[in-house]
Amino acid sequence: MSTSQKVVVVTGASQGIGAEIVKAFRKLDYRVVATARSVSPSDDPDLLTVAGDIADPATAQRVIAAAVERFGRVDTLVNNAGIFIAKPFTQYAAEDYAAAIGVNVSGFFHITQRAIAEMEKHASGHVVTITTSLVDHAIDGVPSVLASLTKGGLNAATRSLAIEYAKRGIRANAVSPGIIKSPMHAEQTHAALGALHPMGHMGEMSDIVNAVLYLDAAPFVTGEILHVDGGQSAGH
Ligand SMILES: NC(=O)c1ccc[n+]([C@@H]2O[C@H](COP(=O)([O-])OP(=O)(O)OC[C@H]3O[C@@H](n4cnc5c(N)ncnc54)[C@H](OP(=O)(O)O)[C@@H]3O)[C@@H](O)[C@H]2O)c1
Repeated sequence: MSTSQKVVVVTGASQGIGAEIVKAFRKLDYRVVATARSVSPSDDPDLLTVAGDIADPATAQRVIAAAVERFGRVDTLVNNAGIFIAKPFTQYAAEDYAAAIGVNVSGFFHITQRAIAEMEKHASGHVVTITTSLVDHAIDGVPSVLASLTKGGLNAATRSLAIEYAKRGIRANAVSPGIIKSPMHAEQTHAALGALHPMGHMGEMSDIVNAVLYLDAAPFVTGEILHVDGGQSAGH
């Protein structure tokens, strides 16, 4: 088993931003482990897919075990799986709360724990997590406490991990998007969503992919929350 190529694990890889991140890392000749509930098998020998619910610790266990068994190590983890449920606060159902905590928080916790345990063996690694700029600026008319509660925790956990592992060769960063043209948003909503950014338009999936690639190639950057949000977090 050759371990000269770098190995990246990408969650939420069946569509949208995650699927684009997978393509970008393959172009850079990384070996990729892609996971989501509905991810499809691949003919590419350097792309392993593992289907599962990221909220389930057993999925995290299977994904990291498969990465190590097939490719020998884990260099980068991209925590991209996420759900967004916008509702007035008092209308959130118990199922909404459980789903947001399950995917966004448990889905980060279990796989990050297992990935960092592998990275520690080589004193090297990088965890990059996709959050949201709603954490820094709530928007009138877009009630989304569950996004702020869960992704705000991920920004804080990113800084905490960065400090805990700063002297041990493992970096932790986040990309904080504005609203991005992905399958999450129907095309007829794009004009209204674009107007929520100082730049007046939505972001492209490539904007987020490029930020992830930058952070992965930036050895002196850790604990960074990189806003890629058309100016949203800067002000209105
Ligand atoms: N698009 C935006 O405007 C925007 C803005 C800010 C932040 N973000 C964040 O960016 C990330 C990617 O978003 P996107 O726009 O690409 O969304 P998307 O098109 O809805 O894709 C979400 C991905 O997450 C996976 N996923 C959802 N629930 C899962 C579960 N229980 N277990 C495993 N995988 C699960 C989905 O795969 P399966 O359904 O196959 O499981 C899918 O691959 C998310 O973290 C999102 O919060 C997006």
